[in-house]
Amino acid sequence: MDTFITIIYEKQDEIAYVTLNRPDVLNVYNMQMRDELFQVLAAIRDDPEVRAVIFQGAGERAFCAGADLSEFLTAPSPTIARQVRWERDVWGLFLSIPQLLIAALHGYVLGDGLEMALCCDIRIASEDVRMGAPEAGLGIIPAAGGSQTLPRTIGRAPALDMLLTGRWVTAEEACRLGLVNKVVPRGELLSSAERVANRIKGYDPAAVKSAKQAVNRGLDLSLLEGLELEARLGSSLLVSQVDRKRD
Ligand code: COA
Repeated sequence: MDTFITIIYEKQDEIAYVTLNRPDVLNVYNMQMRDELFQVLAAIRDDPEVRAVIFQGAGERAFCAGADLSEFLTAPSPTIARQVRWERDVWGLFLSIPQLLIAALHGYVLGDGLEMALCCDIRIASEDVRMGAPEAGLGIIPAAGGSQTLPRTIGRAPALDMLLTGRWVTAEEACRLGLVNKVVPRGELLSSAERVANRIKGYDPAAVKSAKQAVNRGLDLSLLEGLELEARLGSSLLVSQVDRKRD
């Protein structure tokens, strides 16, 4: 894999660590980060040695303060942007990853940072976290799925409140809304994420993948279709486990 400039990628004991690494500018998301994340996420998806991934931000101040606004007015034309999006759909790639994804959040988690966290399965926040979607105030709307993933995570009314007003929420409110799974002191953020990752390391990866699919795909289906999906995933999991025992 190439050497990266905007992220750090490490792998240890079946856990992958993706660190957003632009601390001087609060780890804001630029085109280079998009390209590097695309490369790393594709590698993770195809790496059976990786059982869980922890996303975190470098430095003391932020997980990610959103899109790099210095690139705002230098954006490519809509046609080129659409082409790049098609070829480098980082957000679609995020949602296709079968392993457990954990966001370890501290400081500012804004815009793209919030959307990245919403692509993860479990969000753990430190007490200093501030989460928000400032896009509407900038005359844009979220472009990384936030208008869809936020209401699916916290419900329509609180999502509209955050998306329309740009209001930030604190760790306590984020936890109450279900935007994060739990809040821990800053010094325990990484170890807390690692505890979750370590817990599932011994599980059958196919079971983790199927459970993710059942929930994520099921949310977009009727209850009846969702139950059919669950039954289908459950029986193919059973068949693959029986086959493996036979081999
Ligand atoms: N794009 C590019 N650079 C950014 C940035 C962004 N979205 N957010 C922060 N930075 C840079 C600042 O320009 C500054 O760089 P400098 O030291 O070279 O001047 C550095 O990060 C630190 O930010 P600063 O604004 O000085 O910190 P602060 O504590 O005063 O404020 C924020 C922090 C998050 C409140 C403020 O930076 C902010 O509002 N950022 C924009 C958030 C946003 O709208 N994101 C886009 C969502 S689509």
